[in-house]
Amino acid sequence: MSWIREGELSIIERFCANIIKAGPMPKHVAFIMDGNRRYAQKCHVERQQGHSQGFDKLAQTLRWCLNLGIREVTVYAFSIENFKRSKEEVDGLMDLARQKFSRLLEEQENLKKHGVCIRVLGDLPLLPVDIQELIAQAVLFNKLCFLNVCFAYTSRHEISNAVREMAWGVEQGLLEPRSELMAGCGSAPPPSFNLQP
Ligand code: FPP
Repeated sequence: MSWIREGELSIIERFCANIIKAGPMPKHVAFIMDGNRRYAQKCHVERQQGHSQGFDKLAQTLRWCLNLGIREVTVYAFSIENFKRSKEEVDGLMDLARQKFSRLLEEQENLKKHGVCIRVLGDLPLLPVDIQELIAQAVLFNKLCFLNVCFAYTSRHEISNAVREMAWGVEQGLLEPRSELMAGCGSAPPPSFNLQP
């Protein structure tokens, strides 16, 4: 399945979108991919099939977000802790990532048309070199809306990076040590949902 499928939404999707649009709309939504293996077990399918359908659900959700006009979506796809899973499962997930990042490359024209900026965030050197190369080609710079894919991420890495960047900002005179931003009051965190297939 492609990352953002073209074509009209169904009647039920349009009906739900209109209800949601009647209320306040978040600017940034984060999804944590979860429940793929439980889904596979429940439906008596292979674990890899559960991961694959988990991605399909993500693609469907991204389409809804685009239609709703949500400007930024962050997907927590694969954490550094996930490398501790069996070799078979990690290899399967890397194969799926290979497929999906290649697909992202094929779909660049369509994504550019929608003004989507693609960022892949994480400790990328931990990934197989061919996937790092695919990611390097797949990132896209646009300004209309943003898709952040967290891959090989860990909260410790993110927090230490953020602190390092803020320290750099202060050193460069771009941030004041006592500013609201430094105190973490600048912006509210994005709402976060668990995404199950
Ligand atoms: C969570 O379910 C899912 C994962 C840890 C892996 C998700 C990654 C992919 C589908 C790879 C491709 C994705 C992109 C965006 C390139 P779980 O395995 O923790 O399931 P459980 O909660 O039932 O144990």
